[in-house]
Amino acid sequence: MINTNHTKSDAKTVNLYNQAYSENYRHFDEQYIGMPDYNHFVPLLKRLTAEFNRPIKVLEVGCGTGRYFHALNNTVELTGIDISGPMLKLAENPLKGDEVNIPMINLIEGSVFEHDFGKEKFDFIYSIGVLAEHAPFTQHICTKLYNLLNDDGVLYFTAVDIDDRKDFKRKLAETAYPLLPGVIRGILDKRWETNYMTYRQLDQMMAASRFDEYEISTYRAEGGGWVGAHLECIARKHDALTKSLFV
Ligand SMILES: C[S@@+](CC[C@H](N)C(=O)[O-])C[C@H]1O[C@@H](n2cnc3c(N)ncnc32)[C@H](O)[C@@H]1O
Repeated sequence: MINTNHTKSDAKTVNLYNQAYSENYRHFDEQYIGMPDYNHFVPLLKRLTAEFNRPIKVLEVGCGTGRYFHALNNTVELTGIDISGPMLKLAENPLKGDEVNIPMINLIEGSVFEHDFGKEKFDFIYSIGVLAEHAPFTQHICTKLYNLLNDDGVLYFTAVDIDDRKDFKRKLAETAYPLLPGVIRGILDKRWETNYMTYRQLDQMMAASRFDEYEISTYRAEGGGWVGAHLECIARKHDALTKSLFV
C-alpha cells in the first residue's frame, strides 16, 4: 500500500507547486515566524547543526523557498534541491535572508530520486515536509541518502503519520481486510496507496537500512500550517572507527 512510484508523485508535485502556489508559500513564510511549528523546527535544526562543532556541508531535500536556511549553524556550503522551479527561484531570497550565514549556496532544480550528485557528500541532510508526504520514502532513497552522507553524518527528516489520518470507517475496513475476497482487497490496495507511513513501516525501513543508529519520534502539529501527527527520524552514520566498535 506504500507507493513506490516516485515518477507519479514527482509529476503531481511539479503540477501543484506552480508559480502562484509557490508565491503563496513564500508569502506565508513571513507569517510563519514565531508560530508553534516554526518554534519546533527552527530550534531543532539549530541544535542538530550546532552539535557538529565544526564546519559542515549540508543538503536540504525539497528545500522549497528556503524557509529553514537561516536555522543552519556551522554550515559552509548548502545544497538545496527541489523539483519545483518556482519554489527554487524564491529560495534565492529566503526567509530571514539577513540571518543566513552560509558562504556558498547551490540550488539545484530536479528530483532527488533522479539527480546524480556525483562524488558529492554531505555531513548533514535534512528534509521537512517532503518524504513520505509529497514523495515516497523508498528503500532506494533511503540508501541514496545514506550514501550521500560522510562518515559521522546525520540525516533528519519528517514523514506523515498515516495512522493519525485514519477515520473509524478506515480502521474498520482494515480490520476486515484479511477476510475480504482478493478482488476487494485489490481495490482497497489501490485506493489506499499512499506516500504516508505508519510508525511501524518507517521503523522497519530504518531497521533494514545501513544506518548505524536512528530514533523516531512523533510531532503533533500545534499551529503554523502543519496538520496532525508527523513522524520525525534522526539517523546517524558512524565513522569507520566507531562502526568497528559496534560489530
Ligand atoms: C511542503 S514543501 C516543503 C518545503 C520546505 N522543505 C519547507 O519545509 O518549507 C515540499 C517541497 O518538496 C519538493 N519536492 C517534492 N518532491 C520532490 C522530489 N522528488 N525532489 C525534490 N523536491 C521535491 C516540492 O517541490 C516542495 O517544494
